[in-house]
Amino acid sequence: MNRQSVCLALALVCAANLPAHAQTAKVPTLDEYRRYALTHEGDIARGAKLFSDEQKLACVKCHSTDGKASKAGPDLYAAGDAYGRRDLVNSVLTPSATIAPGYGTVIVETKAGEQVQGTLKQSNADGIQLMNAEGKLIKIAKADIQQQQGSATSLMPEGLQNGLTLAEFTDLIEYLTTLKQPANTLVSDHGMPPQIPELAKPIVATPFFAEPLTVAGTKARAGLTEMVQVPGSPDVFLVLHQTGLIWRMQKTATGEQKSVFSDLTGPVFYERGPNGLLGLAFHPKFRENRKYYLQHQIFEDGTVATVIEEKEATADFMRDSGKPPRRLIKINSVAEDHSGGSLEFGADGYLYFGMGDTGPHNDPNGHAQNLKLLLGKMLRIDVDHQADGNAYAIPSDNPFRGQADVRPEIWAYGFRNPWRFSFDAVTHELWLADVGQDRVEEVDIVHRGENYGWSVFEGFEPFSNQYRVEGRKFTRPVFAYRRKYGNSITGGYVYRGDKKSSFYGVYLCGDYTSKRIFGVKQEKGALKAVHQLGTIPQGLVSFGTDEANNLYAVGYEGMIYRLDFGGANYNEVKAE
Ligand code: HEC
Repeated sequence: MNRQSVCLALALVCAANLPAHAQTAKVPTLDEYRRYALTHEGDIARGAKLFSDEQKLACVKCHSTDGKASKAGPDLYAAGDAYGRRDLVNSVLTPSATIAPGYGTVIVETKAGEQVQGTLKQSNADGIQLMNAEGKLIKIAKADIQQQQGSATSLMPEGLQNGLTLAEFTDLIEYLTTLKQPANTLVSDHGMPPQIPELAKPIVATPFFAEPLTVAGTKARAGLTEMVQVPGSPDVFLVLHQTGLIWRMQKTATGEQKSVFSDLTGPVFYERGPNGLLGLAFHPKFRENRKYYLQHQIFEDGTVATVIEEKEATADFMRDSGKPPRRLIKINSVAEDHSGGSLEFGADGYLYFGMGDTGPHNDPNGHAQNLKLLLGKMLRIDVDHQADGNAYAIPSDNPFRGQADVRPEIWAYGFRNPWRFSFDAVTHELWLADVGQDRVEEVDIVHRGENYGWSVFEGFEPFSNQYRVEGRKFTRPVFAYRRKYGNSITGGYVYRGDKKSSFYGVYLCGDYTSKRIFGVKQEKGALKAVHQLGTIPQGLVSFGTDEANNLYAVGYEGMIYRLDFGGANYNEVKAE
């Protein structure tokens, strides 16, 4: 056996590390592969053959392309919709540079001293299941786990391209660009239009603060999560960073002032991915009682959990008082993903907050449809009263109050990851954006006690019958979009600024990865129109608003943008 075939027998990983002298020809550099693939057209059929060649590349060992997501890596059936050519090139050349959410490598050390690596497929009271690089599902009982941790290195090996010529690599990329979500199965509903027209003249996103807000030296990629205006102070904003920092930003006539409102980098758990400090809401009587509420992750008793905590500002509202927080609720995570993130007081004075299914993919334990759990739900509590041994009370009109075996905090259910929601300032309707899995992203108007489908539905599409409960009804989304338009939805606000504006009453939402901003109009819960309003330069992680009903977009990498509707018209779109 020569070196190459030994490596293949050991399965891929070492092919990546093959020293240059062991190769027959000089291996091109990453830059050479990149440049060639970005400037040449490849052959799709040859690329498809390379992709499914188990000996040469082994892509098929880890990736399905039929939408079933049955292997260790993400299903690539819509890779050409979800990613541009440059992103696809980089995904193959530098797999660990950005790791697909939920597909990070988990490393487990067993009590027997064995080390197992793979992506997480199941996690529950019995133990976990990891899919390894060979496509083998490995079950590890809870009692056998010595240590379990995430890794910053992708399970996808580096250097897969090394056996390929520049032209072959380009063929492979060409093939990936052709993987598109089939339109026929998805245009089934009016709420998911095949095309989203762009405004003839996009809205303008102008930097709101002069400098990006960043934290130097964080061990993993981390960024901004939210911006909220301090009640009663129209020019003062709090900006949240995932790692636990909260800045106070004041706009003055001459510029801006930046100070630290609170530093929670100790108590907040942040490792990587969608966790850390997620959201903030002010008590409706904040000017009198100075109370505000945070949703964030902690690491306690060996488990990652999401908490809602009550905090208090100083009398001058300049910073947090430093008093210990009052913990209202703690919800343990299963796989650390999908922990919601938004909390808001309704006009009724109750605190609403979203909680995701906490992963892993496919909600394999049926959390979102299980009414005994707080996972995959919109929750509603009364923070001003305490009852039943809880640090809060249950409002008398919560839909499941008094029912046996159902958590009374539940307001609505069937969500995967309700990352951002808001109330329409005029109609008080609750608009929620639920982050989808492999196929679509959705927008819901949430009503008391209703079921929004996950994991029986994803958007308008049936997803799985595993946890379908006989007789349960489902409420359909208002709007959904497919991979062509983005991979991770961010909910925003219904615009209630200038009454004469063509955008008055339009719901703004956007996509974290494609950075697009959409404007949605509905009637009786059905989609009336959706247009692409514009884009922002950074990952669109959140929207913000203020007392004057201006809207802002929060860029994950540190910039906040004010959205200017001035020159645009909602009703004028580009000809297709
Ligand atoms: C050992 C398993 C493995 C092999 C072999 C493998 N991949 Fe991957 N791949 C993964 C995993 C796991 C991820 C997700 C983590 C990440 O983003 O790096 C991934 C991510 C990707 C992504 C990004 C997808 C997304 O949704 O972000 C693309 C594109 C991709 N792989 C293409 C390929 C191609 C093409 C090949 C063959 C040359 C290949 N992979 C071989 C495991 C593998």
